[in-house]
Amino acid sequence: MLSRNQATQRIHELTSFIHHHDFRYYVLDDPEISDSAYDLCMRELIDLETCFPELRALDSPTMRVAGKPQEGFKKYKHRVPMLSLANVLSKQEFLDFDERTHKLLEKALEEPLEYLVELKFDGLSLSLTYEDGQLVCATTRGDGETGEDVTQNVRTIRTVPLRLRTDLPPKWVEIRGEALLPVADFERLNEHQLKNGQKLFANPRNAAAGSIRQLDSSITASRSLTLFCYGMGYFQNSDVKDLYQYEKLLAEWGFRIGEWREVVQGIEPVFKFYEKIENLREELPFEIDGIVVKLNRLSDLDRAGFIAKSPRGMVAFKYPPRQEKTTIEDIIVQVGRTG
Ligand code: IVH
Repeated sequence: MLSRNQATQRIHELTSFIHHHDFRYYVLDDPEISDSAYDLCMRELIDLETCFPELRALDSPTMRVAGKPQEGFKKYKHRVPMLSLANVLSKQEFLDFDERTHKLLEKALEEPLEYLVELKFDGLSLSLTYEDGQLVCATTRGDGETGEDVTQNVRTIRTVPLRLRTDLPPKWVEIRGEALLPVADFERLNEHQLKNGQKLFANPRNAAAGSIRQLDSSITASRSLTLFCYGMGYFQNSDVKDLYQYEKLLAEWGFRIGEWREVVQGIEPVFKFYEKIENLREELPFEIDGIVVKLNRLSDLDRAGFIAKSPRGMVAFKYPPRQEKTTIEDIIVQVGRTG
């Protein structure tokens, strides 16, 4: 039997090892070790934490295991409100946005603005709070000012780091992202719901939201949710000058940000990106409903300011609505064929 000191040391080693391999497996999709080697380490950690329960930390990989069902969700006030985006639905509306933004920044129309363009993930928005690098709270957006505390459920999502991958974490940081259920998992989930006489979900977004707003976290854990991060709420770091740098930092800290983003100058490359992603849309394993165009430089974003509950320097450039990928009839036919 190990002494308490030896156990502390070994738990520390196992925790770092497992966090690293979770990141390789779930975020990078590039595992370095076999499942059985991973399982052995996890079992050793569970055993040690069983002998020394007081050594089990909030960011222990064993914390991903579902806890007891909760009675309800506590309310949580965001340090920085979770805003929403204004929409544009056509090239002309985007041109109007670009022109308005030039005026706000007092720039000549001939001078192209620097934009970060990326995907608009269609899921459930979440805010994750890290204190000294440890995940302490995860909440839904709610009305933008106050959300619901869904920490226990979000901990079960493997792409959510329980600890930031850095030796110098900020004291406090709020990370914003979107939880998604991949389309294939959504289809499997609905087949399962149908076979068991349970409610069907209308679309993957609905299923992701329903999976997170569950009082029983073992249900969340059983669904293959993933998280893509795109920004920060509360964060103080004067070294970061633009959103691209911000997102790079998120990736370094262990978050999944995806590879679909570009920094562009002016409007033409925005239209190109919009079309490129529209062609790619059917191949993506998850749902998007547009692209997001953001002033890249923080100084420009600041200057553009806010209107109502939206930053004026960002816009969602949406795709026209399309039919749900899978209708309830499709599922009934599929289940009839296989089940
Ligand atoms: S930036 C002002 N970037 O779309 C809020 N949002 O109404 C800043 N969303 O609730 C949001 N993908 O959860 C941003 N790449 C992305 C996004 C994104 C999806 C969601 C977000 C927000 C909603 C906008």
